[in-house]
Amino acid sequence: MAADRSDPREGERQRPPDGEARLARAAAALRAGGLVILPTETVYGLAADAANPQAVAALYAAKGRPSFNPLIAHVADVAAARPIARFDARAEALAARFWPGPLTLVLPIGDPAAVCDLARAGLDTVAVRAPAHPLTRRLLALFGGPVAAPSANRSGRPSPTTFEDACAETGAAAAEALDGGPCEIGLESTVVALVDVPRLLRPGAVTRAELEAVAGPLAEAEADARRSPGRLARHYAPDLPLRLDAAQPWAGEAFLAFGPATSGERTWSLSPSRDLKEAAANLFSCLRAADRSGASGIAVAPIPDEGLGEAINDRLRRAAGFVG
Ligand code: TXA
Ligand code: MG
Repeated sequence: MAADRSDPREGERQRPPDGEARLARAAAALRAGGLVILPTETVYGLAADAANPQAVAALYAAKGRPSFNPLIAHVADVAAARPIARFDARAEALAARFWPGPLTLVLPIGDPAAVCDLARAGLDTVAVRAPAHPLTRRLLALFGGPVAAPSANRSGRPSPTTFEDACAETGAAAAEALDGGPCEIGLESTVVALVDVPRLLRPGAVTRAELEAVAGPLAEAEADARRSPGRLARHYAPDLPLRLDAAQPWAGEAFLAFGPATSGERTWSLSPSRDLKEAAANLFSCLRAADRSGASGIAVAPIPDEGLGEAINDRLRRAAGFVG
């Protein structure tokens, strides 16, 4: 075979650094207070040591994120989460059912040193999640502590769902970046608070019905912005104006269809077969593509508000600036 005849040292020089070496470098970067781009099954994150306030401050700065909006502490598993947060029976049941996976639990703080004040935006609660992506699970196990990781976009913009988009958004601030391929889910985790009654703070990949089957009825997020600080208007937003529930595009607009795409220019279908999972996975990359298309605005077809559609419509309304 040709490969056998080539100089083995040549191959050595050309081969990308092996996975283990890269993971070790990423863990070392976190320990040194650096930032790391990492893949999750939902969206790409920009990570820092959650216990290190200087690292967390650099993370807020890299995203241009207001420091009153707290971060999610990512852990390898529920055993790693228990010292950080106070788990009641419902939290245990939700973690047992959905972790590792796209569910974030907001719980009363346990050990306040594990996730620094700045990462919690001074709140007496903490958001914890055990992500499912194998690369990031290995990094978390290697690092050994909680990792604060917001989505890797600059604040207010669509979350990155590919390695390339993540690097384009915040790569300049990262000491290391782990390529885990395109994100399987493409929408951020569901955020549920278990502080008083169970509350849905952010609809996401785990649907309301799936959660209620385990935790009982979910109350809505409080209007009190200090308790759900991420519910800001104009979030996940492309640069172009967004028009929702559009039957078809107006002249000059790009169009995101749901169902078979009409053959128009600058038209993308979120899912030709009207599959909500596929639409969720395509949402942010289609918004980015439409944004770059030279159109005057982006029109989006109506999306059914059931199951995963609740999370898709939540992101679309925020991207359009409709939620205050
Ligand atoms: O899927 C995801 O959750 C991704 C990946 C990277 O894991 N991360 C993510 O992080 O979406 P971020 O920072 O973009 O969104 C975290 C959300 C925000 O809406 C924030 O306000 C909310 O979680 N949050 C964090 N801690 C909270 C707390 N103590 N109380 C209420 N909301 C909290
Ligand atoms: Mg985000």
